[in-house]
Amino acid sequence: MLKLTNVHKSFDKTEVLKGISLNVEKGSVTAIIGPSGAGKTTLLRCMNFLEKADSGTLDFDEFHLDLEKVSKKTMLEVRRKTAFVFQNYNLFANMPALQNVMEGLVTARKVSKAEAKDRALKALEKVGLKDKADFYPSSLSGGQQQRVGIARAIAVNPEVILFDEPTSALDPELTGEVLSVIKELAAEGTTMVIVTHEMSFARDTADKVIFMDKGVIVEEGSAAELFTNPKNARTRQFLKI
Ligand SMILES: Nc1ncnc2c1ncn2[C@@H]1O[C@H](COP(=O)(O)OP(=O)(O)OP(=O)(O)O)[C@@H](O)[C@H]1O
Ligand SMILES: [Mg+2]
Repeated sequence: MLKLTNVHKSFDKTEVLKGISLNVEKGSVTAIIGPSGAGKTTLLRCMNFLEKADSGTLDFDEFHLDLEKVSKKTMLEVRRKTAFVFQNYNLFANMPALQNVMEGLVTARKVSKAEAKDRALKALEKVGLKDKADFYPSSLSGGQQQRVGIARAIAVNPEVILFDEPTSALDPELTGEVLSVIKELAAEGTTMVIVTHEMSFARDTADKVIFMDKGVIVEEGSAAELFTNPKNARTRQFLKI
């Protein structure tokens, strides 16, 4: 469904992604793990053009993009197939939960207000927050805010949801409620790529785990393979096996 080939990205003179290739199957959950600075966020951001890669290709359904010279129009079309869930939620502070979920539908995707409201309420219900639709982010807990972030992602009906450490800003109690929403989406066959430091969550939920370090994919495999029998010494060191 989504395939990256030989993606490179530098910031100034520092190469942060050094030829990344990966394949995301429809209906699968891919977890990306690795130490700080490995390039995990950058990779995720390059997948939906929040960041522009320097070179490489992206295949997404019928699209074949040369990332070096992709047009803005194509970029926007492909971005619409994705949704991004941010580490720090990125909600609009001046809008209640419902409007936060509706906003992207109405402005970027030109959905009518009535339909956007309907879809937003359904998405909020799915994450267990229908009763908080009128609450502003400041009146919601971190876990609830992140669930609004997930509702916003679900509402656009994307082909893939990209999560960048969705629980790293939360204490353990609130982490659980967010991870259970993600697990539910996984059980329904939602295609997801999740950067995470929650190893037990990755082990339980991911079909494929990718270990990144210093801008390369060091090792990838099924959760069972990677967590119980990693082949690479660096992976073993990271997992303390
Ligand atoms: N906008 C930017 N400008 C310059 N350098 C950047 C930028 N974004 C990321 N970097 C650098 O790229 C490298 C990879 O960063 P990235 O955020 O992708 O790592 P990460 O694996 O997500 O780390 P963490 O686990 O800490 O979130 C780091 O050295 C970082 O300083
Ligand atoms: Mg990161």
